[in-house]
Amino acid sequence: MKVKLDVEKISFRQGDGNLSAARQMEIAAGRIAGCQRVLRPGDPLGDLEKILALRGGGTPEGLLAPWPVHPPEPYRVKSVELRGHGCPPGDVRLEAIEEAGYNTFLLKEDKRVVIHIDLLTDSGTSAMSDLQWSAMLKGNEDYAGSRSYYPLEKAIQEVYGWQEVVPTHQGRGAEHIVSTIFIKPLLEQYPGDPIYVPKNMYFTTTKVHILRAGGVFRDIIIDQAHDSTAWHPFKGNIDLDKLQKLIDDCIARWGKVHGPRHIAYLHLEGCVNMAGGQPFSMENLKALRAVTQRHGIPLLLDATRLVENAYFIQQREEGYREMSVAAIVREMGSLTDGCTMSSKKDHLVNIGGFLALNDRDKAAKAREMLVDFEGFPTYGGMAGYSMEALTQGIRECIDDNWIAYRIGQTRYLGELLQDGGVPIVLPVGGHAVFIDAKKFLPHLPQEQFPAQALASAVYLHSGVRTMERGIVSAGRDKDSGSQHFPELELVRLTIPRRVYTQSHMDYVAEKIIELYRMRERINGLEIAWEPPAGSLRFFLMRFTPIGGRLIR
Ligand SMILES: Cc1ncc(COP(=O)(O)O)c(C=O)c1O
Repeated sequence: MKVKLDVEKISFRQGDGNLSAARQMEIAAGRIAGCQRVLRPGDPLGDLEKILALRGGGTPEGLLAPWPVHPPEPYRVKSVELRGHGCPPGDVRLEAIEEAGYNTFLLKEDKRVVIHIDLLTDSGTSAMSDLQWSAMLKGNEDYAGSRSYYPLEKAIQEVYGWQEVVPTHQGRGAEHIVSTIFIKPLLEQYPGDPIYVPKNMYFTTTKVHILRAGGVFRDIIIDQAHDSTAWHPFKGNIDLDKLQKLIDDCIARWGKVHGPRHIAYLHLEGCVNMAGGQPFSMENLKALRAVTQRHGIPLLLDATRLVENAYFIQQREEGYREMSVAAIVREMGSLTDGCTMSSKKDHLVNIGGFLALNDRDKAAKAREMLVDFEGFPTYGGMAGYSMEALTQGIRECIDDNWIAYRIGQTRYLGELLQDGGVPIVLPVGGHAVFIDAKKFLPHLPQEQFPAQALASAVYLHSGVRTMERGIVSAGRDKDSGSQHFPELELVRLTIPRRVYTQSHMDYVAEKIIELYRMRERINGLEIAWEPPAGSLRFFLMRFTPIGGRLIR
């Protein structure tokens, strides 16, 4: 078992050996651990013994605590991406983040390596398997009727259960089509009336497409999801009372038949991204199925991280402990009418997505739109070789060993940060660890973009790229132009699949804990430039540090 040295428990006196207490602590931590703060059996404890003798007694063992367990990888490394000499030097990092306008999305590697570890996103960043790479050689690039499409269709039908498959270039292509075909006909039927799409919290692109299609978005996730410290095993659940209230209000305004039709569909996201990767429960899904069926409201999944969600159901929900993740995914599919899917996450590919439905008429409408915006129905914006990799990825990602490893690695990083006192969203979610920037930087008001400032500071301090999920991502109100102030102001440390090792996770935790200890030196940001259209402003915005320097 690996153990860590609890340096906080060693008290140093100013002037010992003419070194400051902080410097001694640094030496003790670095030297004794040998590898960051981690000790392995057989590591020498001599230096620590010397320091303790100076203090007048005590044993090193009393200062050692168990190190969180990182699961063993269920794969071997066959090919690697070379990244130069590790972490780029401080002056390179400073120049890079200044050039990027303190927006981690705008960091560029056109001239040199500037990023040490990239935790910006888990989207499209997976390392593909040998079977996926070899499947790509089978890719058939015929424009119409490609033989690479049919195995994909079959995999989706078998794994999830929906019958009509419409491929798209990625998730937002599917969102565009689904929002349009479900919302637009209702706007025509009920001119001037609001047409609602309720969901368990917003996701940036999902909400944009609902609004673009003329719909009204309603967040009906349970209240605990907005509180980073509330412990709930299924923080991604929909609040059934909030849903019922929306239905009742619609019935009160437009009657029993026409009222519920003002809800275009209920959209349920697995492992809710903006809430910290939090799952919904099967119990919640079954209850939602009953309510929506009663009122004839379509129930669609944002199935982007459904497999990760299924693992949490297996681990946390009564009655599912002995069931495979594959069987749980199939059950979730059977309780819904279809999905939008970004395959760039669970499915272990770098590009791709689809929408799937059971309703054949709606699927026909979707294909009509598909040819205008994405491509022919047997490729929908993907290359034949991408579809081959995706088919294999769909089969691979439902393996119980893989998914246990995946979630275990995320939990490992979360536990290290928690150990170091860093405020994170609890419980740790599936694809990422989310730092609570309001708690990390309590001296910064939300108008000074604490999560954006923290993401920039993490990069500047460590070369680790993360991203903001707070006021910048929430954007502005379409009509008033004023900023939304979300409860959660988070920095997301998103773990790409099959890419980073335990040492990478140890480094990330080490550096963020270090930054946490000097947190009061981090300044806020002000806007330097914002795109006028502004709906997904977080991709492009630029900032400057208040007072001229980000870290004093
Ligand atoms: C929950 C969720 N839905 C939809 C999308 C959009 O997918 P894509 O980036 O493939 O367009 C994402 C992407 O991050 C996501 O996390």
